[in-house]
Amino acid sequence: MATAELAGKHLVLGMTGGIACYKIAELTRLLTKAGATVQVVMTEAATQFITPVTMQALSGRPVYTSQWDARIANNMAHIDLSREAGAIVIAPASTDFLAKLAHGMADDLLATLCVARDCPLLVVPAMNRQMWQNPATQRNVAQLRADGIEVLGPDSGPQACGEIGDGRMLEAAATYEAIASFFAPKLLSGRRVLLTAGPTFEPLDPVRGITNRSSGKMGFALARAAQQAGAEVHLVAGPVALDTPWGVFREDVQTAQQMHDAVMRSVADADIFIGVAAVADWRVDHASEHKIKKAADRALPTFSFVENPDILASVAALPHPPFTVGFAAESGELEVHGEEKRIRKKVPLLIGNLGPLTFGMDDNEVVLFEAGGATRLPRADKQTLARALIAEIAKRLPDTSLIR
Ligand code: CTP
Repeated sequence: MATAELAGKHLVLGMTGGIACYKIAELTRLLTKAGATVQVVMTEAATQFITPVTMQALSGRPVYTSQWDARIANNMAHIDLSREAGAIVIAPASTDFLAKLAHGMADDLLATLCVARDCPLLVVPAMNRQMWQNPATQRNVAQLRADGIEVLGPDSGPQACGEIGDGRMLEAAATYEAIASFFAPKLLSGRRVLLTAGPTFEPLDPVRGITNRSSGKMGFALARAAQQAGAEVHLVAGPVALDTPWGVFREDVQTAQQMHDAVMRSVADADIFIGVAAVADWRVDHASEHKIKKAADRALPTFSFVENPDILASVAALPHPPFTVGFAAESGELEVHGEEKRIRKKVPLLIGNLGPLTFGMDDNEVVLFEAGGATRLPRADKQTLARALIAEIAKRLPDTSLIR
């Protein structure tokens, strides 16, 4: 999880009435764990769904619900509570509250805080699909966007009322990611990033295959960091058990050939290509259509292999390639193999893992190989490292006017 953007930030978390209030307990925990201070303000309706006592215990601060609360020394809660705030986040944001915001109403503490604010406002809508689709709601949301208010979500899927559709609140983790993303420096604003991540799976028969130990964590962390840095991100993923980072477009593939084809279909639109996937170098020449059976009187199976296309080298060899970045998984002599691999694949930047292979682990230490020499980055968890790598890539990009 991204934490650096939120450490030391002060947020006002405004809750309005809706069943999604239960998600805010978890959101508060994620925000405080990331080092943010969270000042909860609840509308009267929100207190019907979750108690201020719960929110106070989770945020570690007194919760405010009324404009007439006498605990603020100058009795100006509507001004004081958001004074040091990096943002006000309204989650869940009800249909009614969106309407109030669109019209600048100030008839309770939370609405007044929003009108009197001097900081960004983020709203996380939560409602039944018909309420979301109602033309009045859509008008109000368009007005909020025009007023510079960030609208996060909504999500689509089963709703508390039993219906299915758009309107449900983003899950707590996705809301957290979206808030972190809002605060991240926009180093890749306006850029399109295409990435590969994870292993590939090369079938031997319908039930067996050859794969490798890549978890996809580094590639997914880079996709998340690129999205948070303002890029439009397309992630081509091999078989992994990871959630799609918020705001990232994901395309799932199995084999190296499918990964190659997916990349080649989209690469013309990309400004940056990052090949993080551990792509199988070979596939079985003719995978069996039927499960290979064992029998006492049968010889052990043998397989002949053919080489898979090299995705990274194919991208780098395009007439107008995007800024192309490779990764190197080596089990020894990185200094020798890293630079040799960069030159062989003709990429301007290759990132090598230092030390033992780190498949599946959360920490990593890398060296950047480029024409000017090698640079080592300090050991860090994969999300911190991903942010640092995105900053390094952003520094090396050609001027936007020159790119493609
Ligand atoms: N790569 C690729 N397509 C392949 C093989 C590798 O796009 N068929 C990319 C990887 O995504 C990575 C880089 O090439 O960015 C290096 O991958 P790696 O497995 O370290 O190198 P190989 O080319 O496979 O060389 P070797 O296995 O001999 O080390």
